[in-house]
Amino acid sequence: MIEPFRHHLFVCTNKRDGRAACEDHGAKDALAKAKEAVNALPAAEREGVRVSAAGCLGRCAHGPVAVLYPAGAWISYESAEDLTRFVMDAIRR
Ligand code: FES
Repeated sequence: MIEPFRHHLFVCTNKRDGRAACEDHGAKDALAKAKEAVNALPAAEREGVRVSAAGCLGRCAHGPVAVLYPAGAWISYESAEDLTRFVMDAIRR
């Protein structure tokens, strides 16, 4: 069995032809900023934390969205800062 990550954030960066999608709201930029913030943490704090791009998470109408496991916590964020705050709060909780 593979040890799970302590926190694993999946950020939808999907784009859909002619239909609303997370990437229409700057999801790739938000993903990059969340990764940057996690990577800037001291090693002990960022250990076991992973931030990954994801395809469509099936919540397009709420986009841009991301989900954090194992908490199973979803966020429909307004800005890159919101997304970063979401993952940082989980790490520091
Ligand atoms: S495009 Fe992001 S949840 Fe579907």
